[in-house]
Amino acid sequence: MSNRPIVYLDHAATSWPKPPTVLEAMERCMREAAANPGRGSHEMAVRASRVLFEGRKALARLFRIPNPNDIAFTLNTTHGLNMAIQGLLKPGDHAISTSVEHNSVRRPLEALKRRLGIEVTYVSTDERGVLDPAALREAIRPTTKLIAATHSSNLLGTILPIGDIGEIAKKAGARLLVDAAQSAGVLDIDVNAMNVDLLAFPGHKGLLGPQGTGGLYIHPDLDLEPLLYGGTGSRSEDPDQPAVRPDRYEAGTPNTVGIAGLTAGVKFVLSETVQRIHAKELALTRQLMAGLSELPGLRILGPDSSVERTAIVSFVMEGIDPSETAFLLDRQFGIAVRSGFHCTPLGHESARTLETGAVRASAGYFTQESDIVSLIAAVREIGETLRG
Ligand code: ALA
Repeated sequence: MSNRPIVYLDHAATSWPKPPTVLEAMERCMREAAANPGRGSHEMAVRASRVLFEGRKALARLFRIPNPNDIAFTLNTTHGLNMAIQGLLKPGDHAISTSVEHNSVRRPLEALKRRLGIEVTYVSTDERGVLDPAALREAIRPTTKLIAATHSSNLLGTILPIGDIGEIAKKAGARLLVDAAQSAGVLDIDVNAMNVDLLAFPGHKGLLGPQGTGGLYIHPDLDLEPLLYGGTGSRSEDPDQPAVRPDRYEAGTPNTVGIAGLTAGVKFVLSETVQRIHAKELALTRQLMAGLSELPGLRILGPDSSVERTAIVSFVMEGIDPSETAFLLDRQFGIAVRSGFHCTPLGHESARTLETGAVRASAGYFTQESDIVSLIAAVREIGETLRG
């Protein structure tokens, strides 16, 4: 490993570094509370259970969820999205989604299409990822059970109008599932005000926790078929999965140490506030867009800089392979970005980059203006060198 300081601009994949309190909470949990929560009544098991409850309470405060037990911990957003999609849809159902979804929404929908014969409509956005709610309204059928939409495109940074989509879902009697992979911790989310029935979120991105953590909020009047069955530490004599939450959706030993870290991350977000975090990230994003837009032959994907977006700036450079750019950024300049197809072929189709893929730079709350300056200079140099 080189000693060169890394310029980390891959926060949309996983945020780094984490607040020191996250590391401290994980170490403390491992030392003092890493027994099995809910499986014994000894002192350390009770401490472990408290760790989980603290986490649920902090998340409930952040997303304005009245009952913390309506949140199930998951391994990541993909896990939560699968719980929601596979737990809700039955043969004969129709689902609506969008053309900027990540594979974590698209693949489970496509799998259910094959396995159960459900029907799916993907409503197209424009090239910048902007969704017209009227187009979504037109896709509603009497059998529409679910609308699954990302809050923000992981390729384009576009923010989708979740409040409007929630209204449409409510009027149609359909359930709204929101993929908050890019928005949890950076955009305001109020599940009731936005009519969100299911919210899948990661712990390791905007919530500043470790990998292997995340969650799914499930509206209290919605019963999903669990994705996993097994031990919960409750009603052990019963062969059926308990109905009580969160046990119903949390079979098996949880990631207690990870959740201790996630809780510290959420508390950091709550004290900084999502408004301040988003404002800082947006300013960095605009700085990056302004710098990149001066470079010849470079196209920035997504909305223009006057429009609010999450801190994602994907771009393509005429005649230069995005993977080569990312490779050179890493090896020559110590700058970490992501390149390729970003697990969203639908998004690339919308942005007309299905052939090439794109370079994606994503800032976080700890990103410095100097990191952005370094990236712009490096991309300029790569362009000049490779084009000659
Ligand atoms: N979904 C993550 C990303 O967009 C991993 O990079």
